[in-house]
Order: sequence, then structure tokens, then C-alpha cells
Amino acid sequence: MCGIIGYVGTENEAVEVILDGLSKLEYRGYDSAGLALIEDGKIFIEKKSGRLLNLKKALKGRVDKSCIGIGHTRWATHGNPTDENSHPHFSQDRKVAVVHNGIIENYIDLRDKLEKEGVVFTSQTDSEVVAHLFSKYFDGDMISTLKKVKSIIRGSYALGIIEVDNPDKMVCARKESPLIIGLGKDKNFIASDVPAILKYTRDVVFLDNDEMAIIEKNKVTVFDPQGQPIEKKVTKVEWDTEQANKKGYPHFMLKEIHEQPEVVNKGIARYMKDSQIYFGEEFEKIDFSKIDNIVIVACGTAYHAGLQGAYFLKKLAGIKVDVEVASEFRYSDPFINEKTLAIFISQSGETLDTLMAMKLSKELGATTLAITNVLGSTISREADIVLYTMAGPEISVASTKAYTAQVALMYMFAMYMGIKNKKISIEEYNEYMRTIAEFSDRIEVALENKEKIHELAKKIKDCRNGFYIGRGIDEKIAREGSLKMKEITYIHSEAIAAGELKHGTIALIEPGTLVVVVATQKDMIEKMVSNIKEIKARGGYVIAITKENYSQVLEVADETIFIEDINDMLAPLLTVMPLQLLAYYTAVEKGLDVDKPRNLAKSVTVE
Ligand code: F6R
Repeated sequence: MCGIIGYVGTENEAVEVILDGLSKLEYRGYDSAGLALIEDGKIFIEKKSGRLLNLKKALKGRVDKSCIGIGHTRWATHGNPTDENSHPHFSQDRKVAVVHNGIIENYIDLRDKLEKEGVVFTSQTDSEVVAHLFSKYFDGDMISTLKKVKSIIRGSYALGIIEVDNPDKMVCARKESPLIIGLGKDKNFIASDVPAILKYTRDVVFLDNDEMAIIEKNKVTVFDPQGQPIEKKVTKVEWDTEQANKKGYPHFMLKEIHEQPEVVNKGIARYMKDSQIYFGEEFEKIDFSKIDNIVIVACGTAYHAGLQGAYFLKKLAGIKVDVEVASEFRYSDPFINEKTLAIFISQSGETLDTLMAMKLSKELGATTLAITNVLGSTISREADIVLYTMAGPEISVASTKAYTAQVALMYMFAMYMGIKNKKISIEEYNEYMRTIAEFSDRIEVALENKEKIHELAKKIKDCRNGFYIGRGIDEKIAREGSLKMKEITYIHSEAIAAGELKHGTIALIEPGTLVVVVATQKDMIEKMVSNIKEIKARGGYVIAITKENYSQVLEVADETIFIEDINDMLAPLLTVMPLQLLAYYTAVEKGLDVDKPRNLAKSVTVE
């Protein structure tokens, strides 16, 4: 987590570039923000706890004189979100300033040693040790010093460092945490993510693990872990700043919800060739005859997409799939070997838990397949094969369109495997493809319910608790609905299998308790109606999401939201729309910061 940006240029625009970059990186953490500049032979630092706005206020009226600077937006790990704990951190003589994303695992030892040598620390963070170490070992050469510091610190990091006697250079390094270099004309940049620099350039170099670089206004030199200069590929970023704007929507989340029809279309189109599913040359090299088990690993919303993917694979291709939460994967003694296809789903492609699970799977001999949204992300570069979800930049912390794109892709993968395993006939395949081709129109229709959902949100905004229930694939969707609700509205919510209700949780249902029921599956509709009746008998308040032909649900629920009648297997792609909207409007009604919910960050690069 945390976002870093750095700038070296000619014009006196460091502050402007850094503040603009930080505004694009705020999704990575917004507990505090700060910047450091070299000006008039000194390092100037301003940092403030709270949102970027506080930093902007503190800088108001200041004349921008600097051509070099680094900035940071923080998601607090070590130390409270105070001004002192905000980045940049600096050496005692204030000659070195550092921004850091990641965790320095051995910082306590290093801090103890430095304190014994007389160094006075001004923060409680792990990051501050880097500034003091850089100062202690500074030998006049920024890269050799950085190399020395790297050999001492342990953990994960993206680092940006400036030193007062080198006012035309900035150095950077990465290990596990993402870092890119932007190449401009007479100006160059470093950043945690592409949107931060997109206003200035589309030419990007992705740093690999353990690499370092010196950034100057007309020159960028990248070094391998041994300190040898190396050539790096320059990637042209295809998407533009327009895609990273709100386009008139009040929040990114609402904009991204509305982008879902287009996202599904694009995702499908990318992997179709001559009316057949085609995942590309690399993918075709997978020797499926040697694969005898599949495991899907992911976190949060991406994990929910994985659960759905497993359901599709089972139903359409007759394959048993294990789905694991990435943070637990390493401790679960996973059955992984050369016969495993390990699939890693990650919007950002940077989630450290997922990345670590991927590394372990590789060590154990698995073929690794990444499903990610971000070109050039760490997970995409480290996987054997990558499929991109093509959802475009997702800015809102709560994932919506990326999730839908992941589910659509998993659906295509399951169909591909179904045909391969001769579990679905060509007729069935064609029928599924026909349905999916019309899909974006159906999503548009599902989104038309938004006025009604907004009214419902007004009714539930003061709830303290809520439950989400469903059976079969609806239970997986219920989990996603519940996660969306809790993360942006702070209403405590729990998703459970509808049949489990009577085994304990029903004790919590009392008059007025909110229960969101997802009931779209034909075989299970009668049982779901019974579950609703059980809830109603205890005074619960039921919002049901069902298909338009299941009028029996309408009769028992307090409120019913209909989705179009569609093939059961594809219903989840529609059902999630009202669930996303319900969470969204409830957060709006509560007056919360929808796009930046408290305590969260978009990209979770710590374990
Ligand atoms: C919830 C949400 C998170 C992410 C999770 C994994 O709305 O966005 O639960 O899904 O942190 O992130 P990625 O997909 O980037 O690996």
C-alpha cells in the first residue's frame, strides 16, 4: 500500500506534478500525504496527516521553485497516522529524504543499532531507518549507497530517495512493492502506478524485483541487483487520462458500475477469434493432458470471482477446483505439483498475499496463470501465462467492474475447458455464447433499477447489521454483496449459505434485521422461499433479488428487485449489479466517502 511519486525536470513544477500524482495515487492509502523538494541547496519537507487536501492547504501560496522532489500518500502500517509518521522521512542532518511503500521487516534491530550510535528518530515508522542508513553510508555515489542500504534492509519496498548534494538526481529501488519509471521530455518520473504520471507521459519502464535506477531530467539508468547498468523495455500505455476521470459521475464507483456492460463486451471480444474462445498463443502451449488439478487463489472480491469460477468449472467442464484465500494459502500445506494449474486472480496484479502464493506454487512446480487487470503489474510479469480482464483503470477502492470482468473471464475459461473435456456439446456452447453476446444489454437493464434501489438504501441506511444469504452460486454472490456493503457503508454484514441460517445465525434475526436474499436458481427457489418465510416469522426485513419470473419471492419478501430471466449459470453477472448499487446508495445516503472507505487501500502490498 501507500503511493509514491518522484519527479526530476527542468521547469519549476515539482510541487504541481507531485500533488497531481498523489491525487491519482490516493486510492493506495489516504492516512497522510507529504512531499520533499530540493530548493536553494536545502531539503524542504511538508507532510500532513489526513487527506491530501491538508497537504495542499499547507502548501498554499508557496512559489514552486523546485525541479526535483518526491511525494507519498500513506496507508499506515507502523505508527499512527500523524504528521510525524507521514513520509517523506529524513536523515538527522536533513540532507536525505525518503519515501517508501512496503515494510522494512528488520527495522527494530536497525533502529536499535542506529539509536545506540546516537541517531534520533522522529517517527514510529519502519521507513525512517532507510533515511538514516542512506545518510550513514553515503559515499558520494547515490547508487552504490543505495546498493549498500539494500543489502542491510529486509522486507518489501519501493523507495524514492533524494540527497541534497545531488540536486539533479533521484534514486529508486524496488523489492516486491510496485514501481514504474515514466519517461518524459526533459523530465522523468517514478511512481507506484501508471495513472500518477499519465498526464505527462505514456512511456513507461517497469522495474523488476531488486532493480535500482538513477533518474535525471534527460536520462534514466536502470541497474541490476549487482549494480550493473541494464537495458529495459519501454512500454507504451494504451489507456488515457480520460478513462481515469469521473466523466460527470459523482463517484468513481458509480462510473465504474456503469462501465460494466462495456467491460464485459471488451473482455469477451479480446478472447474471441472466428467465433471461438481463443486465449492466445502462450495459453495454447499449456499441456492440459498433464494437468490433473486446478487451484484458484485470490483475495477479497477477486476471491469471490474465484469461487464463481470454480463453480463454472465444475458445472461446465466437470473439473474439481480448490479455491483458496491467498493469505492462508502458504499455511494450508497446499497440494501443488507439476500437474497443477494454479490460477491467480488479482485486479491490481500487486496484492502481496496473492503474489507470495504464486511464488510458492511456482517453487512447487505448478503452471501459473494470472488473471489481472493491470498491464505490467508484478503478478502479470511473474506468471507463466497472463489473461487480462480489460476493465480499464479501476479507481474506486471497492471493486466493481474488475470483479465482473474476472467472472466473465472465468466463465469463458470454464466453457473453453468444457469443450476441451467434451463436457458441453457444441450446441450448448453456442447457446451459452449467444447468451453472453447479449450480455451487456442485460446489464444495462439491471442497472435501470437504480432509482428503486436508491429508495431502498434510504430505508436501510441506519441498520447496524445485515445478513446476505443464497444457495449454490447465489451464495457466492451473496458474499460479494455483503463485502461491498460492509466496506463502503460500515454496516456490519455477514454472508452465509441460506441453509446454514437455521444452524445458528437465525438467533440474530429480530424485528427489523436486514436480510438480503439472493434467489436466482430454479432448483433452489422453493427452499429460498421457505428461508424468507423463516426470516419473516422472526420479524426480519427482507430485500430479495430474484428473476422476473419468480413471483413467489415477491409474495413473501418485503422488497423485491428483479433481474431479467436468464440462464441460471449467468445470473450472477446480473445479480451483482443491484448488490453493488445497494451498497453504493447506502454509503451515499450515510454521507460517506464512497470511493475511499476508511482503513482501506486499493492495492494491498503488505502481507
Ligand atoms: C473489495 C476489494 C478487495 C480486493 C482485494 C484483492 O472491493 O476490492 O477485496 O478485491 O484486496 O485485490 P486485487 O484484486 O487487486 O488482488
